[in-house]
Amino acid sequence: MQLEQARHRAEALRQLINNHNYQYYVLDDPSITDNEYDVLMRELIDIETDFIDLITTDSPTQRVGVSPVSELKEVKHLMPMLSLGNAFNEDEMRAFNKRIKEKLSVNSLEFSGETKFDGLAVNILYENGLLITAATRGDGSIGEDVTHNVRTIPQVPLSLIGENIPQLLEVRGEVVMTHKGFAALNDRQREKGEKVFANPRNAAAGSLRQLDSRVTAQRPLAFFAYGIGDYNGNKDLTSHTNILRQLKEWGLPVSSDTKRLKGIDECLSYHTEIGAARSELEHDIDGVVFKVNELSQQRELGFVSRAPRWAIAYKFPPLEEITQLLDIEIQVGRTGALTPVARLSPVSVAGVTVTNATLHNIDEIKRKDIKIGDWVYVRRAGDVIPEIVSVIKERRANVAEFVMPTVCPACGSDVVRQEGEAVYRCIGGLSCSAQKIQAIIHFASRKAMNIDGLGDKLIIQLTESGLISNIADLYSLSQEQLATLERMGTKSAENIVTALDKSKKISLERFIYAMGIREVGEATARALAIRYKSLDLIEQATTGELESISDIGPVVAFNIYSFFQQKHNKEIIHELKKHIHLDIVESNQLATLDGMSFVITGTLSSMGRDEAKQKLMALGAKVSRSVSKKTNYVVYGESPGSKYEKALQLDVKTLSEQQYLDLIAGIST
Ligand code: IVH
Repeated sequence: MQLEQARHRAEALRQLINNHNYQYYVLDDPSITDNEYDVLMRELIDIETDFIDLITTDSPTQRVGVSPVSELKEVKHLMPMLSLGNAFNEDEMRAFNKRIKEKLSVNSLEFSGETKFDGLAVNILYENGLLITAATRGDGSIGEDVTHNVRTIPQVPLSLIGENIPQLLEVRGEVVMTHKGFAALNDRQREKGEKVFANPRNAAAGSLRQLDSRVTAQRPLAFFAYGIGDYNGNKDLTSHTNILRQLKEWGLPVSSDTKRLKGIDECLSYHTEIGAARSELEHDIDGVVFKVNELSQQRELGFVSRAPRWAIAYKFPPLEEITQLLDIEIQVGRTGALTPVARLSPVSVAGVTVTNATLHNIDEIKRKDIKIGDWVYVRRAGDVIPEIVSVIKERRANVAEFVMPTVCPACGSDVVRQEGEAVYRCIGGLSCSAQKIQAIIHFASRKAMNIDGLGDKLIIQLTESGLISNIADLYSLSQEQLATLERMGTKSAENIVTALDKSKKISLERFIYAMGIREVGEATARALAIRYKSLDLIEQATTGELESISDIGPVVAFNIYSFFQQKHNKEIIHELKKHIHLDIVESNQLATLDGMSFVITGTLSSMGRDEAKQKLMALGAKVSRSVSKKTNYVVYGESPGSKYEKALQLDVKTLSEQQYLDLIAGIST
């Protein structure tokens, strides 16, 4: 290739790639596959390898990092980076609103509501559209030069795109790490025997302050712009939402959760709404930020010390706290799995007192190097069981090593670990009291037979007193027998008998789920009910037949088959059949989307996304914002974004708009 020809092609490729980056990272709406993208990149790299002089500083190939620097230099921000005042409750928010309304002498105010990213603030300077420096916040006036590292973050444009490129622009935003990126990074670090990070924020900070940007380039950092500092350009910017829109047009990623809000009540609802969605976001946030939208009003309000009067952060409770690990106990599950459980010194995390945390299995304990007596970070996010994030090694003193027992703490049977499995199991089966109790607890639970009032404690009491020894025994319990139990009044005893009676009429799918067959969750139970419509037929099913049901693989098929072959189970089912009336009709219509999880992406032609979401939720489905392995379906409309790609990557089923409409119609009729 001739030099001139190469120059032209390289320029065209850069523009093309930058445009695809923009579609992917800023618009969340890619138009080519990862492979097609890689082909373009490869071609550009090849040209730049042959013609080194053609490499430009803003070439998309220049994100892999450069030789390490010896230290992080100081950079002075053109305009100081301010901090934010905080509010922790509604009263403080209302006071903020009142204060500024009075100061401005207005009756109503418009705000921009946005998420408060839990990462690191950076200031990126663009001159005539080219990225010149990027610096941490530092003391607000002078930060550390992290240009070499910020240049490796894929969302950060190395040159601005679009119209009216300003002569000078300081972009303010946050560098964060997604949960997924964080988990993957820690896995890699562990494998290499290197330091694991306590949380995504620490990981982002550690990655951003690297001297060697080739290391940073390997770290899954992301960036969101939330404002500007110094600015010199033609375009008049009159409001904060104006600024955000303009930043987006210049190629900078802005959070899609940003919303214009009228008045304090809309602000409070926004805080609640984002709070509810917090655990579904791809990255950590620690609150929401409200900014007076009109810049003229912002100017009028000015600053107090180093924080603007026109903005406030309404914080969420922290998801992580520090506490002491008092002991590690073993819980024997219904399938015999021995799960180590951390007993913690009680600590309040995001409004809930946490006393236990799961430790998953022995490998996890080893990986996190957890010892009894350690001080630990506990994290509680969304509905998930609290977890120990990491150990504070500096505070370690008088700790004891945890050892997995070799016999079951409940029944004394041997404990074995199957090859390739992370868990140890008690081989006691239903002769193990713990497994027996867990099986009954599962049977009575809400998603299974839903026996009101029959909780864990009562089940333990019933088993220990010898009144029951398996699930079938429950239905022979009399009110008189129940009333003999300690702390049990006649009324409560009566209620339990009523609840037991009520549970006798049950759908086939729930009944199957209630049996507690290993690895048969609600979805598999539902699939079985739909396929066979009869318990007798399921009992007779062969493994080959079972495997023909989608979602049932050889292992689960074997579990189901062998469950129904066991003499003990046959006896119990025989006994249960005397009491239970299986409601096959309900299984037929099952059809509700209870427990299924959906994600909607792209533009639908027949209705808005919100309406589509409402319809799904009305049928019992959960609608989330991001696609994970747990997503059951991704509904896609016109020009679907990266969520669609992700569904394909993760092998999540996708539904076109028509398929979605058919599904809804099929269920509602
Ligand atoms: S605005 C003039 N917006 O919060 C106001 N800050 O305490 C300056 N932060 O160090 C900040 N998300 O790192 C703003 N949407 C957001 C933010 C945000 C996170 C961080 C920022 C800053 C700190 C302020």
